[in-house]
Amino acid sequence: QKESTNGKSKPGQYAGEQWEQEQFNRAKQISSVNTDKINLPGQEKNEFVFDESQYVTFDSGDQLTGDKDPETTTSSKVSAAERTSIDDVRKSLPVFKFREQFLEAVKENPVLIVVGETGSGKTTQLPQYLHEAGYSEGGKKMIGCTQPRRVAATSVATRVAQEMDSKLGQEVGYTIRFEDKSSDKTIIKYLTDGMLLREFLNDPELSHYGALMIDEAHERTLSTEVLLSLLKDIVRARPDLKLIIASATINATKFSEFFDKAPILNIPGRRFPVNIHYTKNPEANYIQAAITTIFQIHLTQPLPGDILVFLTGQEEIETMEGSLNEAVAKLGSSIQPLHICSIYANLPQELQSKIFEPTPPNSRKVVLATNIAETSITIDGIAYVIDPGYVKQNVYNPLTGMESLVVVPCSRASADQRAGRAGRIGPGKCFRLYTKWSFYNELELNPVPEILRVNLISVILLLLSLGINDLINFDFMDPPSNDTIIKALELLYALGALNSKGQLTKLGRKMNEFPLDPMFSKCILTSSKYGCSEEILTIIAMLGESGTLFYRPKDKREQADKKRETFNHELGDHFSLLKVWQDWEATDYSNLWCEDNFIQYKTLKRAKNVREQLARLSKRVGVESEIDKTSKEVPPLMIQKSIVSGFFPNIVRLSRMGDSYRKLKQNYACFIHPSSSLYPVKPPPRMILYHELVLTSKEFMRNVMVVDEKLVKEFGSHYYSIKDLESATNKVKK
Ligand code: CDP
Ligand code: MG
Repeated sequence: QKESTNGKSKPGQYAGEQWEQEQFNRAKQISSVNTDKINLPGQEKNEFVFDESQYVTFDSGDQLTGDKDPETTTSSKVSAAERTSIDDVRKSLPVFKFREQFLEAVKENPVLIVVGETGSGKTTQLPQYLHEAGYSEGGKKMIGCTQPRRVAATSVATRVAQEMDSKLGQEVGYTIRFEDKSSDKTIIKYLTDGMLLREFLNDPELSHYGALMIDEAHERTLSTEVLLSLLKDIVRARPDLKLIIASATINATKFSEFFDKAPILNIPGRRFPVNIHYTKNPEANYIQAAITTIFQIHLTQPLPGDILVFLTGQEEIETMEGSLNEAVAKLGSSIQPLHICSIYANLPQELQSKIFEPTPPNSRKVVLATNIAETSITIDGIAYVIDPGYVKQNVYNPLTGMESLVVVPCSRASADQRAGRAGRIGPGKCFRLYTKWSFYNELELNPVPEILRVNLISVILLLLSLGINDLINFDFMDPPSNDTIIKALELLYALGALNSKGQLTKLGRKMNEFPLDPMFSKCILTSSKYGCSEEILTIIAMLGESGTLFYRPKDKREQADKKRETFNHELGDHFSLLKVWQDWEATDYSNLWCEDNFIQYKTLKRAKNVREQLARLSKRVGVESEIDKTSKEVPPLMIQKSIVSGFFPNIVRLSRMGDSYRKLKQNYACFIHPSSSLYPVKPPPRMILYHELVLTSKEFMRNVMVVDEKLVKEFGSHYYSIKDLESATNKVKK
C-alpha cells in the first residue's frame, strides 16, 4: 500500500500518527507548514532554506512527451493578460484549425466522435461552431452540451457568454441541479448530464435541441452512459438531430463502436513534455507532503509557473487552503507572493472566476482542485502539478447493498491526464507523491466506469418512467451486472415505487419529480402524511450541506466545539441539523448569528436555496405544505417515521459486544463517524439509521439518527422479508 508507514519515511515528516486510524480527519489534524523550521539564514538576505528533514525527496521518472506544434507553440506562450481580444484567443485554440473539417463531418454524419487533448477548445468552441453553422435554426432550437460536473457547466457557460458578448442566462445559459440559468432566449445551453437525462421525462425526443454534444464522455459517468444509450435511439428517429461525443484521448474507439462505427475526428493536442518525479519513499501523509512540495517548488523553481494540486474533495481542499494561507501569512514578505485558490464541484459560482484570473507578475498561483481539473476545466499558466494519486469515489457493493464514499488510488490514465496539465504553456514538471513502483504495480490502468460501481436506483426509476421495462436487455455500453439491476428493482419495490408486477406506481412517478435519490423523495412524500414536510425538506437540504456547515478556527477550537455541542440533539444528526436551521430561521437568516455559532453562512444560504426549490417541487406533486402552522411543534416521531420510510435499508443494530453496528441483513461492521452528534454517546443507542457511509480506515456512518425497532417493522417489512423480494424481481424480469 502506498500510504504505508513502513519506517522508511523520515521521522518528523508527518503531523500525527492518528492519521492511520482516522484518515477522514487527516486534513484537520495537520498543523500548518511548520514555518519555525524554515531557517532564515539572515533576515536581510531575504532568502531561506527548508529544514532538510522536512523535504519530500523525489526520484525522477519518465517523461510524458508532448507533440509540439510549432505554430501553436508560439501562440500558447502568450499569457492571457497579453492577449488583446477574445477573438484572437478563440482563433489560437487548436480546434480552430479544424472548424471546417468538423462542420463538414457533422453535416455528413448523424453522430461524430471528437477526440482532443484537454484545453484544445472542444467545450467552449464546438457548440459555438454549431450555432454559427445554423444548427440552432435561428434560435428556434438549442445547442446542448453536457458536463459531468456542475462547476464545469457553470464555468464554461460563463466563459462562452463572455465570448459571445451576451449576458449569462440569455443566449448562453446553464442548468444544473437546483439552479437554472437559462431562458427562452437561450441558444447554447451547458447542463449536467444528469439534468439532460431528466429532460427526457418531459420531452422524450429532446425536440428542443438541434444538436447535442455529450462532453467528457471518457469519464463514463452513470448519467452520461445512460444518455448515450437513449440518444442512440433518438438519433435514428430524428435525422435532424446532430450528436457529438467529445472525449479526452482515452476510450474513443469504444464510443465509435457503440455508435455503429461513427467517424472519429482527432484534434491533435498541444502539449510540451512533462517530467515526472516520484517520491523515493511512500508518503504517509499526502496532505503534508503536498504542502511541503508546494513550498519546495515555490522556493526553487522559476517564475512564472503556477502550481496545480489534485486533492479528493472540498473538506480536504478547504483545510489545506487554510494551512497554506496561514503559512504564507507567517512567512510574509520573505517569500514571493503565493495566491491560493481552489476549485471543486460545489464551489459557488461567484468564487469560480478566481482560478482563471491571471497571476500577477513576480508571484505564483496555487490551485487546489479535485479531479475536476483533470480534463473538464483548463487553467492557463500551470507549469507544476502535484499529484497525491487519490480520488474520491462512490462505490456500491451489490452484495451488501451498501454504497460508500471512498478515497481510492486514481488510475494510471488519470495520473497521466493530471501530469499533462503541467505541459500547456511550456515544458512542465509533475510531482507524484507516491513511488514509481506504486504507479506501475498498484494503480489500475483505467478508471472503472461508474455504472459498474454505483447504486442504480435513480437511473432505473427514470428508465422505467420512460417506458423502458426490459432493463436486463437495455443497450448499455457496459451493462451493469444483473445483480445490481435486481438489487435496484428490489429496493424500488420496497420503497413503493414499483408494484409487485414490477410496474411503476403513482408514488414512483411522483418520486421522479424530484431530482433526488428516490430514498429522499420517499421521505418527502411520506412526510405529507405525517404533517412534517417542512421539517423533512429542511433536513434533506441540510444533509446535502452538512460537510461544510461548522468551522473551527485554529485559535478558537474549544469555543467552536462548545457552540457546536449546543446543537446536539439526543436523536442524532438529522435533528441537530434541523435545530441549526430553525435557530437560524428564527434570527431571520442572520449572518451575525452564523459567525457567533461558527457556522458557515454561505452553506446555510445554499441549503436555503435547495430547500426553496424542493418546496416548489413538493407543491407541484401535491405534498401538503404546512407553512401556516409555524408555531406548532411537530412530534419527533413523525419526523423519524418519514425518514425511516425512505431510509429503512440503512438501518444498523448495535453489535452484541457493543463496539460497533451491524446491518440488519449482513454481518458487516460500521461505526459512528466522530463528526456525529451521537459520538460518543453512552450508552450507545441500540438501533440507528445512517445517511451515508464513508469508508476510510473503517466503514464510518456519517449523519445518523436514533430509530426504534417498531419503525423498522412498520416501514421495512417489504425490504427485510426475503420472500417478498424474490417474487417481485422474478416478475420484473419477465
Ligand atoms: O474542452 P477543452 O478541454 O478542449 O477546452 P476548453 O474547455 O474549450 O478550453 C479552451 C480554452 O478556454 C482554454 O485555454 C481555457 O483556459 C479557456 N477557458 C477559460 O479561460 N475559462 C473558462 N471558464 C473555460 C475555458
Ligand atoms: Mg472540455
